[in-house]
Amino acid sequence: MGVIEKAASTEQDYRSSHLEVGGRYDAKLAESPFDAYMSAWERKYLPGIIKRFFPSGPARYLDFACGTGRITEQIAPLAKQSVAVDISPTMIEEARRKCPQTRFHLGDLTTTDPDLGQFDLVSSFRFFGNAQDELRDGALRAITRRLQPGGHLLINSHRNPRALYAVLDRLTGGPASGMDLHLPKLRKLLDRHGLSIVWLQPIAVWMYRSRIMLDTRPDDSQAAAKEARYGSASFASIAPDLIVVARKR
Ligand SMILES: C[S@@+](CC[C@H](N)C(=O)[O-])C[C@H]1O[C@@H](n2cnc3c(N)ncnc32)[C@H](O)[C@@H]1O
Repeated sequence: MGVIEKAASTEQDYRSSHLEVGGRYDAKLAESPFDAYMSAWERKYLPGIIKRFFPSGPARYLDFACGTGRITEQIAPLAKQSVAVDISPTMIEEARRKCPQTRFHLGDLTTTDPDLGQFDLVSSFRFFGNAQDELRDGALRAITRRLQPGGHLLINSHRNPRALYAVLDRLTGGPASGMDLHLPKLRKLLDRHGLSIVWLQPIAVWMYRSRIMLDTRPDDSQAAAKEARYGSASFASIAPDLIVVARKR
């Protein structure tokens, strides 16, 4: 999974993982069958999730670690104002082209404190599963400082070490993946930062072997039925990809 992300182990500082790869990121994601599948299903679920928590759209939306704008471009049109932040100039350059209405900020909110205002929705995708613990904490401090009380954080967790395929890989002698963000750890992390999980949407629970993930296609004709069967929150702890909404207390 995640050809680019494989290079970003939890031992190095994830801040420097994507500095140079902006021009290749979207193509790499599209050519990995499982990444393309996750991306397609995130895209299907996001409008309904936004509508559930923001029936008339969020007023101020921030995409933290926006990368090439994969998620920004889906949510920004639903918001009255949108801001997106990333540390990588090459990633932001791609995002700017896709999101003309969004204000972009290049920088690291864990070490600087630009005045971006307050937000009622912050998203951050393909970030928390990859980042090291120190960066996870720093990011959540920066995010919750900018989130209004009662505001919502929308993230995904796509490197679950307790997903069935990951457990079977380990049991059959697969290489160490460096994945460590299982759902109880994520729940504790969010809780420590004053955030309570209010919505869980598992994706790809039926892919219980890496082999299936390598063969899958986003337009798999059976996928909708399988996602419906295994899409309830009760499967969240074993999901390869999970959309999470947490509310600031
Ligand atoms: C795997 S990409 C995800 C991009 C996008 N959110 C998506 O889902 O496609 C992770 C992004 O995190 C960014 N990043 C890492 N550390 C960061 C930090 N401290 N502040 C802002 N962005 C950061 C990287 O530059 C990279 O663009």
